[in-house]
Amino acid sequence: MAIRDIIIAPDARLTQISKPVEAVTDEIRALMDDMLETMYAAPGIGLAAIQVGVPLRIIVMDLAREDEEPDPRYFVNPEILEISDDLATYAEGCLSVPDFYEDVERPAHVRVRYLDYDGELREIEADEMLATCLQHEMDHLEGILFVDHLSKLKRSMILKKLQKQKRIQESV
Ligand code: NI
Repeated sequence: MAIRDIIIAPDARLTQISKPVEAVTDEIRALMDDMLETMYAAPGIGLAAIQVGVPLRIIVMDLAREDEEPDPRYFVNPEILEISDDLATYAEGCLSVPDFYEDVERPAHVRVRYLDYDGELREIEADEMLATCLQHEMDHLEGILFVDHLSKLKRSMILKKLQKQKRIQESV
């Protein structure tokens, strides 16, 4: 396993639409292992493959609290089958948008079909954090960041600050 570099916004790569995985091979599992390790090291609770520069429809996640056993989850080619009309709001953050947290309103419940780590077809009914996290990560597969759900003003303010930090880091 290896820790990979996480792409920080604004970056055109993060706006790409990721491609479906043809088969869950050992190579794909190795990528998922790297993604999980990268996510834990960050630390974060969810990561999409495009955030490490791989435009494939893969998400890893672990919503376990610090006092709980790790609970790694893998979602390959996730598809939303159903979303609820009722909405929930969470303060979201993103490893590609470091240090910014903003409220985003999304459907409170989702039903998602996906392939797991072994390539088995599965379905999950999600609510609360899991529903929000799944939708946040699935947005990445469409090239969408949580800041795209904010007002234009707030989004451009955040992206400008990130851009500025990048310039500072590049110059040292
Ligand atoms: Ni994210």
